[in-house]
Amino acid sequence: MSEFRVENLFVKPKEADEITIKGVDLSVKSGELHVIMGPNGSGKTTLSLGIMGSERYEIVDGRIFLDGEDITSMPMEERALKGLFIAYQAPPEIRSVNFLTFLRESLKIRGKNGDDSIIKRAFARVGLDDDFLDRELYVGFSGGERKRGEMAQLLLFHPKFAILDEPDTGVDVDSMRLIAGTINEALEKGTGIVLITHYARILELLPDDYHVHVLIGGKFRAHGGPDLARSIEKSGFEGFGS
Ligand SMILES: Nc1ncnc2c1ncn2[C@@H]1O[C@H](COP(=O)(O)OP(=O)(O)O)[C@@H](O)[C@H]1O
Ligand SMILES: [Mg+2]
Repeated sequence: MSEFRVENLFVKPKEADEITIKGVDLSVKSGELHVIMGPNGSGKTTLSLGIMGSERYEIVDGRIFLDGEDITSMPMEERALKGLFIAYQAPPEIRSVNFLTFLRESLKIRGKNGDDSIIKRAFARVGLDDDFLDRELYVGFSGGERKRGEMAQLLLFHPKFAILDEPDTGVDVDSMRLIAGTINEALEKGTGIVLITHYARILELLPDDYHVHVLIGGKFRAHGGPDLARSIEKSGFEGFGS
């Protein structure tokens, strides 16, 4: 059983004037599903990228622990090798990096089997055919195809913990089902997941024992379960304070 823990975290985007995340606590254990909901600009992406150690964000205060080890100032690549994964809200295009080569090498440095057959199976699982593997990383991919590419990585890397930043935003119903399927598979394999979403719809396709955290103005204002997610879908974020 692994634990990922965030204590009293304050995060500032380096280019911003103000601190965006203002004291967040979160504890996630293997196989658990935690859902973060919050309006646009409430700090969801800042929290994700701060946790992952992106160079564009500064941890102003607080601590991040993976299995008791303080990883607050560890470089992003090292956190990834320790078993943290992020599926980006907007995965960037990376020219001159071939997707198949990227996956082979990423799996190798993680000590995992990077056979082409395994990579192709993960792509098929998320509804991407082999042609996408011959392309440069996300170059010319549609929004939905990028999200599915991120989910293929989730399946392949089998991380201890994954943060999924709006994997269901801007995708069609079939893609959403594929994405929910991969999340279920990762949970069953023991990955602890933090899912950022605006929609209760994807949650209907996931195990209903998830924890909901409502992020507004950089702080968690409420915690609950499926009922809280449904009430937010119905009535929005009014009444949670800011
Ligand atoms: N690079 C940046 N420069 C200036 N402000 C930023 C930057 N990144 C994020 N912010 C600000 O931080 C706040 C939170 O943004 P973000 O974390 O993207 O929110 P969310 O993902 O919840 O929509 C917003 O007010 C946003 O404008
Ligand atoms: Mg965001």
